[in-house]
Amino acid sequence: MKLADNKATLSFSNGSPSVEMPVYSGSIGPDVIDIRKLYAQTGMFTFDPGFMSTAACQSAITYIDGDKGELLYRGYPIEQLATQCDFLETCHLLLYGELPDAKGKEDFTKLVTMHTMVNEQMQFFLRGFRRDAHPMAVMTGLVGAMSAFYHDSTDITNPKHREIAAIRLIAKMPTLVAMAYKYSIGQPFIYPRNDLSYAANFMRMMFATPCEEYEPNDVLVRAMDRIFILHADHEQNASTSTVRVCGSSGTNPFAAIAAGVACLWGPAHGGANEACLNMLEDIQRNGGIDKIGDFIKQVKDKNSNVKLMGFGHRVYKNYDPRAKLMQETCKEVLAHLGVQNDPLLKLAVALEKIALEDEYFVSRKLYPNVDFYSGIVQRAIGIPVSLFTAIFALARTVGWIAQLNEMISDNDYKISRPRQLFVGSEKRDVKPLVQR
Ligand code: SDX
Repeated sequence: MKLADNKATLSFSNGSPSVEMPVYSGSIGPDVIDIRKLYAQTGMFTFDPGFMSTAACQSAITYIDGDKGELLYRGYPIEQLATQCDFLETCHLLLYGELPDAKGKEDFTKLVTMHTMVNEQMQFFLRGFRRDAHPMAVMTGLVGAMSAFYHDSTDITNPKHREIAAIRLIAKMPTLVAMAYKYSIGQPFIYPRNDLSYAANFMRMMFATPCEEYEPNDVLVRAMDRIFILHADHEQNASTSTVRVCGSSGTNPFAAIAAGVACLWGPAHGGANEACLNMLEDIQRNGGIDKIGDFIKQVKDKNSNVKLMGFGHRVYKNYDPRAKLMQETCKEVLAHLGVQNDPLLKLAVALEKIALEDEYFVSRKLYPNVDFYSGIVQRAIGIPVSLFTAIFALARTVGWIAQLNEMISDNDYKISRPRQLFVGSEKRDVKPLVQR
């Protein structure tokens, strides 16, 4: 970051001395006002619940222009990465800052492939869960439990440990998600294979059984790989910020990523894809396209607490570029499977059209986000709704670990410790029990 030829002056109407603060510029996007010395100079904090106007860090990984609906991973537009690269090339880009050349891609793919198995003990850990446990509950446990197995890559201050932990996490998440799925349906775990691509390996671990060979379908594998790319990273979203805050204490990378998994689960964040599909199925059950008007009325009624899941975004005040790509992938997969007339897709397209013309959504700049179409395509591929967010976590792991490693490798990073505006009781004395 570089000092801008600008300064911020904070003046107070009560006559307190004004304070000057430096303004910094990045390479693209909004400048920042450096308030790090504000408390020391004024005895006051800034107040920004939900971080609506707060840059919590500097980063060179992902840039989002919410007004333009633009998403860049290390400067490359998501539209180009999703159509010209595969997920492991994208992982290399996010981790190391550059797309690999042919040799680099071969080496990185081999490195990840060699780490796809998990310690054999982990299957017994899984058995502690109920078969009907939500996959995200299982994943929060399994990812955290990796700290109990990979002790030779838990020292986050050691660059070598950071590197191997990143590879292990990226490589083992598909195996763990597939194990969580197989466990939930009472089928045996399927081991990864070294002769399959990352996405094909995942599909085989999900859908193969020991009884017959499983031939990955190229169109579905490509769609899965693209879904991974679209979910790989997204600047300082809630779960990435959670990983950064958690990792700032110096805890091991597996524990920090497990915190990200837990945060992603929420319906306002990564859980929205599951919630969105359940919403579409509810509308379908209650009359389908003819009932969209009633549903939109409910959404606009503040007291209903009903939201149009898969719509709206803290940053995008235009169409989420990932939603466009996801809709295209959705149509490709459904056409390939001969279900292009899937009623849920027709319902989603109709819902989107109505919402984009309705003043309530237009005035609030609410557009479809990455979660609006992702559920329909995953359901068509044969993935159960309850596993959608676990797949989001699988894909986002590379973003989380890239952001965590970026923070830790900056020698100036500090433990995250925000302050507060205290509105509770002033000091008072405890009364003996008989007097209370
Ligand atoms: C992800 O941050 C990221 O980058 C996240 C993500 C990533 O890749 O990491 O992109 C992934 O989490 C995508 C978002 C998935 N969530 C959903 O689809 C759930 C539905 N969306 C909303 O909950 C909401 O839009 C959020 C949480 C996504 C954003 O919320 P904000 O920025 O805090 O905005 P807000 O709640 O203050 O909404 C502003 C207004 C409010 O109305 P008013 O009080 O002004 O009258 O818009 C309304 C909201 O009630 N609103 C919605 C709505 N989203 C916002 N109304 C109906 N349906 C919605 N979906």
